[in-house]
Amino acid sequence: MTQTQSSLAAQARRSFPSIMCLGSPVYFDNPGGTQVPQQVADAMVEYLLHSNANTHGAFPTSERTDEVIQAAHTAMADLLGASPREVAFGPNMTTLTFGLSRALGRELREGDEIIVTRLDHDANVAPWLLLAEDKGLTIRWVDVNPDDCTLDIEGFEAALSRRTKLAAFTYASNAVGTVNDVRRLTQLAHDVGALVFIDAVQYAPHGPIDVREIGCDFLACSPYKFFGPHAGALYIRLDHSECLRAYKVRPASDDSPYKWETGTQSHEAMAGTTAAIEYLATLAPEDGDASRRQRLVAAMEAVREYERELSRRLLDGLARLPVQVYGITDPDQLQWRVPTFAVTAEDATPRQLAEEMGRWGFNLWDGNYYALALMERLGLEANGGALRVGMAHYNTPEEVDRFLSELGHILSAGASSVPAVEERAEHTSQG
Ligand SMILES: Cc1ncc(COP(=O)(O)O)c(C=O)c1O
Repeated sequence: MTQTQSSLAAQARRSFPSIMCLGSPVYFDNPGGTQVPQQVADAMVEYLLHSNANTHGAFPTSERTDEVIQAAHTAMADLLGASPREVAFGPNMTTLTFGLSRALGRELREGDEIIVTRLDHDANVAPWLLLAEDKGLTIRWVDVNPDDCTLDIEGFEAALSRRTKLAAFTYASNAVGTVNDVRRLTQLAHDVGALVFIDAVQYAPHGPIDVREIGCDFLACSPYKFFGPHAGALYIRLDHSECLRAYKVRPASDDSPYKWETGTQSHEAMAGTTAAIEYLATLAPEDGDASRRQRLVAAMEAVREYERELSRRLLDGLARLPVQVYGITDPDQLQWRVPTFAVTAEDATPRQLAEEMGRWGFNLWDGNYYALALMERLGLEANGGALRVGMAHYNTPEEVDRFLSELGHILSAGASSVPAVEERAEHTSQG
């Protein structure tokens, strides 16, 4: 790891009150939601205390609210390489996806087909399954290669036909970290005339996104996964946004992107999202005169490189422990994964491991994290899923080493030392 890389984490950590405190936990629960830098909380408080109002009024707090909304659309557009009119906000990715699926459903007819994948979080599966149920559409499932949890590309190609109207796939898996070749998949789907919906929720905190380069039609993400507040954001290519009819109330704007933003939004979350994106831009190695978009791309490239080193270190250590790691483990293939790892051990359930590691100060998720189809495919669903180690750019090599050492102790002490858990929690995490 180079000095520049370690200084990225050191610089980042100074911005996060929850991390900089002595004795703070090790946050490896990032795929479920990341920590928030001070400036995000400040922006939200500032909005709530000094600009809180509804939109389009003839008075200062309402005017400031309109500015906050505009700024958030511009910031999100910079993050995605889109234009501000192509980005809609909502409560979360799931709600936005259900909303869009309603609008797309108007254009689809019985016998039309939608592709979904076993690598996806259910938020990019269930909306399409339900739409298919309502409209008599056919769903084509694309499998994963169980050995390394990469998408079965040949299966994807085989599922495509002139009947395919939409292909829905993830940018990165929230369970095993696999990154899809989204550009190639988009091209393949476009070749048969299908639209493409990409779930970028888990990719957004780990690398640069360029919707134009990918060429996709829709792309969703969630600010609370990239150091912002709880909210969702959806890129809708402008021509689609203009043509599709949104499910909305009559007095609301017919303009893009506002027609997709049903009801009153969380304006404080928009203020926080702008601040989160500003924060990300500060991670760029050099500021210079670069635009925010350029700084964001440079920052996310640096984040990606740094996190690869964390992944390498973690994989190296896990290989020495009696655990099974799901997903890509080949150190030469790390460009195809984000630092999210699903792990199981013979002698302890994922919940037992999460509880025991929690006692040592590690925040870790266990369960299926709503990656239901994948957990079923891997045969893990009936046994409590897997322990998930999900890192972000503020995690450090020292934290990885401590994690490996604690996990090693727990596993070598044997199953008898892991407290029995009477019943598995009924509700698994969403993320
Ligand atoms: C890959 C992925 N897609 C979608 C979602 C759902 O996002 P939201 O909570 O914003 O609806 C999650 C949540 O963890 C996720 O990890």
